[in-house]
Amino acid sequence: MVWKAIQELENEGKKAAAVFITSPTYHGICSNLSEISELCHSRRIPLIVDEAHGAHFGFHSELSNSALQQGADINVQSTHKVLCSLSHLCCTCRAIL
Ligand SMILES: Cc1ncc(COP(=O)(O)O)c(C=O)c1O
Repeated sequence: MVWKAIQELENEGKKAAAVFITSPTYHGICSNLSEISELCHSRRIPLIVDEAHGAHFGFHSELSNSALQQGADINVQSTHKVLCSLSHLCCTCRAIL
């Protein structure tokens, strides 16, 4: 789907400023971010991931790799959802290239 969306824009003579994906979804479905980040970077398009429900991914080897580990350029996480922040807390990280 990402590839198709990028192609459709290119066919119209436009270029995506960024690709924005929610992974995992509210129901825990994870996208193949490694593949999507490779695709985006081959076109020099930054990948931004809403990882609100995946703030725990980087902390255990048996969990999915985090968005940044899979090549995303920026992620946004809600630590109050799956970690133990005491109040509503959101953080964003940017990969250093
Ligand atoms: C996928 C997703 N992104 C973002 C948010 C908003 O996060 P926050 O609670 O930090 O405002 C939610 C809230 O449920 C969500 O499900």
